[in-house]
Amino acid sequence: MCYDVVEQKNVYLDQILADRRSYRMFTAAIPQEDQIRRILHAGLLAPYAAASVGGSKDYFRRFFVIKKGTQSMDAAIPLVMEQVNVMAQGLQKEMETNPTLRKKAVMFVQRMEMIRKAGRVPGVGNAPYFIVVAERKGFPPAELQSLAHCLENMWLKATALELGFQLVSITSRMSDNKEFCKILGILAGEWELMGCAVGFPADELSPSIRPPVEDVTRWLE
Ligand SMILES: Cc1cc2nc3c(=O)[nH]c(=O)nc-3n(C[C@H](O)[C@H](O)[C@H](O)COP(=O)(O)O)c2cc1C
Repeated sequence: MCYDVVEQKNVYLDQILADRRSYRMFTAAIPQEDQIRRILHAGLLAPYAAASVGGSKDYFRRFFVIKKGTQSMDAAIPLVMEQVNVMAQGLQKEMETNPTLRKKAVMFVQRMEMIRKAGRVPGVGNAPYFIVVAERKGFPPAELQSLAHCLENMWLKATALELGFQLVSITSRMSDNKEFCKILGILAGEWELMGCAVGFPADELSPSIRPPVEDVTRWLE
């Protein structure tokens, strides 16, 4: 391939990588379904743990698009919120007897308290779309890693489409929740889940700031 084309490709890719940010505020405008389909297609192109799930006849990756204001969204919102409360209570109890956890979980506890006070999980109901991605459980388990690749591809595609994207990682806690899985039409416990919110960003964020590569890299002999 000619040098100029390679350079051009990298200029665009580097721009998208730097522009990818977590957007947590969305306008009321609804992205077109075709834009969402393009994001899902990018997710399908992501790698998967072939040795773990490759043998399954039924395709192992699924997408569930839940639009703001729909019956499904209205049903999902309280279920996800309930999961935050369950998690917060469990963590609180564990921290009482585990000082290491108490120290480590400070920021996470603060974040959960913020969510509990707000009474809603960011990304579930405030964005035009809450998208749940499911990856069938295989052996050895690699679903969560696969989902991370899938979501990253979707995130980069959303960025290229100039849409805002927010990971909603509490979604992974919903995989055993029968009521939540019933909304999706899947069997609880058979799939790992991850979620994200997509919409038009309400704020403007600067490109990512990260340490210089050399500061965090050791070249080993
Ligand atoms: C495994 C994982 C889980 C995350 N979960 C959430 C989440 O539930 N909600 C959220 O707003 N951001 C979530 N994030 C986004 C991070 O907070 C974010 O990527 C980080 O603060 C860096 O900011 P940037 O994405 O704008 O570069 C998650 C990121 C990762 C890698």
